[in-house]
Amino acid sequence: MTQLHESAAVDAAPKGKGAEVFVGICFLLSVLATIGLAVTYWVGGQPQVEGILLFVTLGGIGIGMVAWGKYLVPQGPFVQEREVLKSEIVERQAMLASLDRGQKQLGRRSFLGKMLGASIGLFGAINLFPFLRSLGPVPKKALTTTPWKKDALIVGPDGRVVTTSTLEVGGVLTVFPSYDVGGAISQTILVRVANENWTTRPGRETWGPQGYLAFSKICTHAGCPVGLYQELTQQLLCPCHQSLFDVLTGATQVFGPAPRPLPQLPIYFDANGNLRAQSGYLEPVGPGYWERG
Ligand code: FES
Repeated sequence: MTQLHESAAVDAAPKGKGAEVFVGICFLLSVLATIGLAVTYWVGGQPQVEGILLFVTLGGIGIGMVAWGKYLVPQGPFVQEREVLKSEIVERQAMLASLDRGQKQLGRRSFLGKMLGASIGLFGAINLFPFLRSLGPVPKKALTTTPWKKDALIVGPDGRVVTTSTLEVGGVLTVFPSYDVGGAISQTILVRVANENWTTRPGRETWGPQGYLAFSKICTHAGCPVGLYQELTQQLLCPCHQSLFDVLTGATQVFGPAPRPLPQLPIYFDANGNLRAQSGYLEPVGPGYWERG
């Protein structure tokens, strides 16, 4: 069907210089339709409009190329004269004039070639759009930050504020900042390992007030929630692939495929005995990604 349309269009095309204009218009329409197709796709897409623009894009290239081949490429047969012919001055001038016309014609053909290249090149380029959009939105800072902020009030899943008496030694609770209760990225596991302040690593002397330690609950292997606490060994267990983290030394991994310790959240008790975050997490939580390994 498309071939019939193209054939009819080509037959109706003018010849000579008019044919060059016709071919140029075909390629120009194709370029414009390709740009329209890219814009339509980028702003959300509309199948009918995209179909029409795709038809014009491909139709313009097809009709233009067929018309070019039919009317602008010299048709044979060609005969080459072998004997030497002496030319008169008038004939030489006629020949030079003819060459001059040919030069102009070649210039126009080169323009048509560029139009064809632009048309096909643009069409090829917009085919990258579906691939680029399938990558999803740019993550920006989402991979390296969490909703935790300095002085965030720490609450349990029921929204109750955590105080000095919320947990006994050996107790465990999932906690969130008060403004993001239930947040998947914020979820943090709070463990009480002692009655006195606890230091998991050098530099973290103030991070474990009264034996409360807070770690990201998102496993550094594949992101499962690390929800099981073994009080006897004071280890956190990820149920997905059995990674074990030693709480007393800063949730360092002691078994399983997890590649890194669980990040620790610095916390403190305010003057009213309510638990708060000293800051957000100082490193990205969760599994590795392309920039982190
Ligand atoms: S997700 Fe935790 S060990 Fe695999």
